[in-house]
Amino acid sequence: MTDVHAADPFAQAEASAATLKRLAGAPDFDAAVVLGSGWLAAADAIGAAELEVPLADLGGFELPTTEGHAPAVRYIKHGNHRILLFLGRVHMYEGYAPHTVVHGVRTAIAAGCRTVVLTNAAGGVNPAYAVGQPVLISDHLNLTGRSPLSGPIPAGYPSRFTDLTEAYSRRLRDLARRHDPALTEGVYAMLPGPHYETPAEIRMLRTAGADLVGMSTALETIAARHLGAEVLAISLVTNPAAGLSEQPLDHREVLDAARASAARIGELLAALLPQM
Ligand code: HPA
Repeated sequence: MTDVHAADPFAQAEASAATLKRLAGAPDFDAAVVLGSGWLAAADAIGAAELEVPLADLGGFELPTTEGHAPAVRYIKHGNHRILLFLGRVHMYEGYAPHTVVHGVRTAIAAGCRTVVLTNAAGGVNPAYAVGQPVLISDHLNLTGRSPLSGPIPAGYPSRFTDLTEAYSRRLRDLARRHDPALTEGVYAMLPGPHYETPAEIRMLRTAGADLVGMSTALETIAARHLGAEVLAISLVTNPAAGLSEQPLDHREVLDAARASAARIGELLAALLPQM
């Protein structure tokens, strides 16, 4: 498995953050948003870019290859609030180790971000969910069997034994619901993918308490909580999970559903970010 950061992923994140601050001419940043599959359409609604930096210029990043993800980060200003918007992410299913998957989140936090907003496309395991519905993540099941905190943690960083009791900030979920009282919340199960689940796996996930299923987010949340950042995560339900509809699952369907709703969700994020 590729892991370019195995030597010292934390030092690599510090180096990427220093380069990002220099290129942006900013002393630090306040919040970071990571856009999931198909969420690119939300980017423009979140705000006008001061600058867009290719991830390749920051060092330490592997570049997203999945359709619906772009290899760049935008710097957006809301008043004197400085926001980083990652237009894509890499996944374990691209062959990357957890340290690589969380490099963007660690870079953002090293650059000063105290708030991390993670977005994704997810299958609806809860039969009450409709395609196109945004759902706040209240908790997760990390079913990858991996952690971004395995391996050495350099001196000066918090303990690897990170408390995940309230991994997804109640304060930020309440703030989101003040803007949109119709927002529901649910438990997100992260699987490594890239294949979709079997109907039997979805029945197992439902029994285990999952409402949503996807292939991202949980590892980034663990990395962000380890470094003390507050996390808000939002899934966009792009399809009923396997076995809950007659339709076979298809990445194109996932992207189309995400694009159709992303602009509306971008507006929610634009309203929320200055208050975080
Ligand atoms: N399963 C896993 N990941 C997903 C799905 C799904 O049904 N939809 C979007 N991402």
